[in-house]
Amino acid sequence: MATIMVPRIKLGSQGLEVSAQGLGCMGMTAYYGTPKPQPDMINLIHYALNSGITFLDTSDVYGPHTNEILLAKALGGGMREKVELATKFGIRSSISTPTKSSVQQSICGDPAYVRAACEASLKRLDVECIDLYYQHRIDKHIPIEVTMGELKKLVEEGKIKYVGLSEASASTIRRAHAVHPVTAVQLEWSLWSRDAEEEIIPTCRELGIGIVAYSPLGRGFLSSGPKIVENLSEVDRRKSHPRFQGENAEHNYKLYERINKVAAKKGCTPSQLALAWLHHQGKDVCPIPGTTKIENLNQNIGALSVNLIAEDMSELESIASAVKGDRQPPGVSTWKDSDTPPLSTWKAT
Ligand code: ATR
Repeated sequence: MATIMVPRIKLGSQGLEVSAQGLGCMGMTAYYGTPKPQPDMINLIHYALNSGITFLDTSDVYGPHTNEILLAKALGGGMREKVELATKFGIRSSISTPTKSSVQQSICGDPAYVRAACEASLKRLDVECIDLYYQHRIDKHIPIEVTMGELKKLVEEGKIKYVGLSEASASTIRRAHAVHPVTAVQLEWSLWSRDAEEEIIPTCRELGIGIVAYSPLGRGFLSSGPKIVENLSEVDRRKSHPRFQGENAEHNYKLYERINKVAAKKGCTPSQLALAWLHHQGKDVCPIPGTTKIENLNQNIGALSVNLIAEDMSELESIASAVKGDRQPPGVSTWKDSDTPPLSTWKAT
């Protein structure tokens, strides 16, 4: 068991309290190679909870559905009460395969869909209430006020406790927050993905919204560099990520080496350094590294005791500007296409 006491932080301004580091569960059943053995993943989740990592992150689209089903199994037998359970809606999958590489996806923020997705997640997760319910990707055809209006009703009905947005622009966050308080915004934030720092993060801070950093380890690149890239299986989605490909990857190995050097100087691992950099951004920031291994989970918890001084931070800050390759594959929706039409244009059908 990890010996570090995992601190608790307040996420947003509505009363949600979570472990200062969360656990991204996606890779346990989806996207990163074939699904991992269920008993091992349940064991890992229990280990995380007993170590103080209680903020679990999933989505209905991971699998699709298999990730929520795994969590339901892990949280049976009295574990539910120990957890802050976050799931997401909004990416609709047309077919279900174990690898998902050929699944057609569309984004939907229609109120009837939001309600149906929430009810389906409650059922799959086998819980009465979801602690934090995110819109996973923003539907740019539906005014954000309309989607938020339905989420507000779900809060009033006790089906969800808090509302979050993922990959939302500053203006979408602001409009959403005017309808119902947004408790957390989830975004990709790491040593090599810092585009949210310009506008999104200051907006969250101005509005008192918590920040949940996904892919804090650069999907494993910042942890293992060439080792991870060279060992990706054919069904691993990271094969389609520009930063993991060809010349970009070759170039980005140099960033990994730089991180490694600073880590050696600090007496920690590259993963711990990447996470510590995020933990040092403020008490309103919660990284949610994904792992399928107890050993790596323990290492990630260790990041909470890595102390970085201003000099270390600035040595690391220049890394993002040197990265090669877009952070997402072509066609994947991000905050850049998350602005929605004005409410005045909406005609409910
Ligand atoms: P995502 O949010 O997309 O899951 P991430 O958290 O940036 O991405 O990185 C997840 C990847 O980092 C996974 O491949 C994970 O591999 P394991 O499942 O084998 O752990 C890897 N990872 C997580 N923690 C790690 C650690 N401490 N050392 C090495 N690799 C680690």
